[in-house]
Amino acid sequence: MKYIILFILIIGGKALAFANHHKPVSDTVSTSQILLDTEGKPINAHGAGVLYHEGVYYLFGEIKKGKTWLVPGQNWEDYRVPAGGVSCYSSTDLKHWKNRGVALKVVTNDTSSELDTGRVIERPKVIYNATTKKFVMWLHSDKNDYRASKGGVAVSDKPWGPYRYLGSVKPNGQMLRDMTLFKDDDGKAYLIYSSEENSTMHVCLLSADYLKPTKTYSRILIKENRESPAIFKHNGKYFLVTSGCSGWSPNAADYAIADHIMGPWTQQGNPCKGLNAGSTFSAQGAFILPVYGKPGDFIFMGDIWNKTDLEKSAYLWLPIHVNGDKVEIHNSK
Ligand code: DGJ
Repeated sequence: MKYIILFILIIGGKALAFANHHKPVSDTVSTSQILLDTEGKPINAHGAGVLYHEGVYYLFGEIKKGKTWLVPGQNWEDYRVPAGGVSCYSSTDLKHWKNRGVALKVVTNDTSSELDTGRVIERPKVIYNATTKKFVMWLHSDKNDYRASKGGVAVSDKPWGPYRYLGSVKPNGQMLRDMTLFKDDDGKAYLIYSSEENSTMHVCLLSADYLKPTKTYSRILIKENRESPAIFKHNGKYFLVTSGCSGWSPNAADYAIADHIMGPWTQQGNPCKGLNAGSTFSAQGAFILPVYGKPGDFIFMGDIWNKTDLEKSAYLWLPIHVNGDKVEIHNSK
């Protein structure tokens, strides 16, 4: 049985002094340690992303189900489960999550398909295009050895799907591995991804319909070897929390800030504070969720990977404290 663990911060005096929240996020999200969906089943949504649309939060993530095996012939711990597609859950209060089914389905026994269970589908993110009225999903599409390194795109008329897979691309011929998606206040959308063998991240402007990369992109965090990008914007500034590259094993997070999404970005150090801050409290970031109607309230959503049994991977959700250019994420223990 897989447990979803929510560590919600009990803010100590020090953190309170730092935080600029008018109301703590812990008032908004469940304080339960084990999160089940409204049917009592464990939520299966890893490398997650959240879309807020018309009063509802939609949570998307990798479905990790089945036996974990070690991909042969790799010089690192390349543990894998069959690609399970992308799940969708919805909530109006961030506490009660209703299973909305499989947003993007996989296929079996079709090695020519990027949706085959033998492929890799990671870190799905969804945004809404107000002009085309389509929901657009981007994901990291790969092969077991991560040599394909592409961005897959799918569309739907409804937030929960079903999403129609349109194919994949290497933006401007560049590798795309861990990725996130960001829709800015002006409606422009960007893909942010580990590229160049994970040494350097790229920020690429998407076409107006969000379905294609444009030629406008920048190289950021050059040769810093960062992955798992999670971005938010606050008071006109951009904040990007990333992890190091150590496969399924946790490492220290870092965050960068920028006045423009294309950069320059400057690294600020590890935002995590407290016990196990050096391992991001055993987790790796996936997404940063702005709490609707509470400017300055953000939730850092991460995965506690169980590398030898990926189906049993858990979650870490913690409030992020933002004070000017400073970001802190405090251990809940
Ligand atoms: C770290 C990435 O962030 C994950 O999404 C996944 O690709 C693992 N590496 C695989 O080891």
